[in-house]
Amino acid sequence: MPSGQYRIVERYLRDAQAERRALAAGLLATPAVIAPKYFYDTLGCALFGAICELPEYYPTRTERAIFNEHRDAIARALGQGKQFVDLGAGDCCKALAWLAFVAPSRYIAVDFAGDEIARSLARMAPDFPEVEMLGVVADFTRGLDLGRDLTRDAVTFFYPGSSIGNFTPGEAREFLTSVHLHCVGREGSGLLIGVDTKKDPRRLTAAYDDAVGVTAAFNRNVLHHVNSILGSDFRPDAFDHVALYDEGEGRIEMHLAARTVQTVKLPGATRTFAAGERIHTENSYKYAPEEFTMLLQEAGFRRVRRWQDGNGDFAVFYAT
Ligand code: AVJ
Repeated sequence: MPSGQYRIVERYLRDAQAERRALAAGLLATPAVIAPKYFYDTLGCALFGAICELPEYYPTRTERAIFNEHRDAIARALGQGKQFVDLGAGDCCKALAWLAFVAPSRYIAVDFAGDEIARSLARMAPDFPEVEMLGVVADFTRGLDLGRDLTRDAVTFFYPGSSIGNFTPGEAREFLTSVHLHCVGREGSGLLIGVDTKKDPRRLTAAYDDAVGVTAAFNRNVLHHVNSILGSDFRPDAFDHVALYDEGEGRIEMHLAARTVQTVKLPGATRTFAAGERIHTENSYKYAPEEFTMLLQEAGFRRVRRWQDGNGDFAVFYAT
């Protein structure tokens, strides 16, 4: 491949009809539900970027601090010259900080948002002429399959930001198992992953219900995105942002609660939401470090190393 270039491959079966049907079915169900991947239209990506700057939202800056403090030790564990797979790459900024240290042979950005990774790779490629740059457009929430996109060489999987928290623990175990299967037979492969930890519920809820209202806007924007996909007529301003911590489940839940009775046109149906009725938009699971180590081991990883901030607010694992 000519240096400074990149390639994009579509591994997302764009069965738009089936996607729309599944989204509408979730909205007709009781309780109604919207999958969190629908947060990330162009405005949603920008609002998530703003969330990461909020004083209450500690995960992004804490993970960055752990990476910065332990850069050399982690880089030594990862090794050099491997394929580097960035899961949920988005703007690719988090991976960018690693590339100089891990000197990959190939950088593979995987994301559901095809436009976003195309933009990111176009921007990065000229600075890394010696690295093969590949974008893979895929929805890996339904299982990871990079069979056609990896060589036989060792791979470092990079899954930062505690995005794993959007899976239930059972789904997370399945997903981690599929990552591990990609490591099998590729000696020296592993997974570098960031995970948010269980902590004082007041700090957790503040992180998802900030004083400025950025997270509320991020949550409501999902209705705007849904309207553009389904042609529905949700009024985002008629729903309240709700964020709560379920201590038994170990998860933050986000909901949108109808302020008054809302009647919404969906494809082929009308859905009425009672005053106060909620649409469940996100789960964000939190793990004690030992719980997550166990999950990695159950997924087939044998060796697990861990780095944390002094407060124990966040954890970074390298599993092989
Ligand atoms: C991108 C899934 C890691 O769960 O903290 C942030 C998304 N939602 N604020 C998270 C999110 C509300 C975020 N993840």
